[in-house]
Amino acid sequence: MPIFHLEVKTLRCPTLWQLISKFYYSTSIKDTHPIYLLPETDPTMIPFLSDFHIVPDIREFRIPSLKSGGKKRRPELVGDIHAVYTLQEAARINSHQSYIQESITKKLLGFLDNLKTPSPKLILDIGCGTGLSTMSAAENGHQVVGIDINMPMVLVANSKSSSSCDYFITDCRLPIPIRHGIFDGVVSVSFLHWLTKSDDSFRTLRTFFSSVSNCLKPSGCFIAQFYPKDPEEVIQIVNAASDIFVGVLLACRPCVERGLKLFLVLLKPNKKKFTN
Ligand SMILES: C[S@@+](CC[C@H](N)C(=O)[O-])C[C@H]1O[C@@H](n2cnc3c(N)ncnc32)[C@H](O)[C@@H]1O
Repeated sequence: MPIFHLEVKTLRCPTLWQLISKFYYSTSIKDTHPIYLLPETDPTMIPFLSDFHIVPDIREFRIPSLKSGGKKRRPELVGDIHAVYTLQEAARINSHQSYIQESITKKLLGFLDNLKTPSPKLILDIGCGTGLSTMSAAENGHQVVGIDINMPMVLVANSKSSSSCDYFITDCRLPIPIRHGIFDGVVSVSFLHWLTKSDDSFRTLRTFFSSVSNCLKPSGCFIAQFYPKDPEEVIQIVNAASDIFVGVLLACRPCVERGLKLFLVLLKPNKKKFTN
């Protein structure tokens, strides 16, 4: 088996490797991607820490800044949410995107399982869109509530989902209208970067993280994957999260043939850090 570890690390094309090797998924490849500990985080709370390379500074993630061409392809940078996600657009979201979102959701649920109580769990999916992440979590045995600001997205999600999923429409820049302390886990896939659009984005983020913390049980955790436009945005998100949570920022590759993705794995601290 060690020989496969060596070959995966040296092979330039992971897609080719995936095609030729029936062993790809059965090898436990050590992930040497970076991980950053938020202030006051007790390393013993993070069981997968040793799979990563600890960095003392977020800039060591070497997150690239988006160029103008890249910005044009990013819905959150193009325009108003309701203009971007029309009913037509919501219905168009295709099976390729579904594969990527499912891989990210599985990775995210893997972290969740690693951290706490056994399945099934009650999970809140923030920025659920057409429910790709919500349905994927439900297929893994969880009871899931998806929330989103956009009516067309939620309509599509609701039309496709099983009875393990429920949805409602709400703007997560405002406190989330949910009873406190009931969710085992909160997840969000490709959503957090939508909160950094306003001039007052740090305050929006802080309100958001505080609200998420309120929804969680004391033992609960929040795991989010997001696409930053530059390193400054990541630092802003991590700083806002650090006011409320402990945890880690990490980079990993949930789909073999796609690039590294950023994840925040956040836990409630024993002692409250900040109250909104
Ligand atoms: C890229 S989609 C992700 C969809 C879904 N998580 C998935 O994996 O398929 C981002 C979603 O965030 C939602 N969103 C953006 N701003 C929001 C806000 N302020 N409150 C709630 N949802 C929001 C959008 O409507 C959109 O459905």
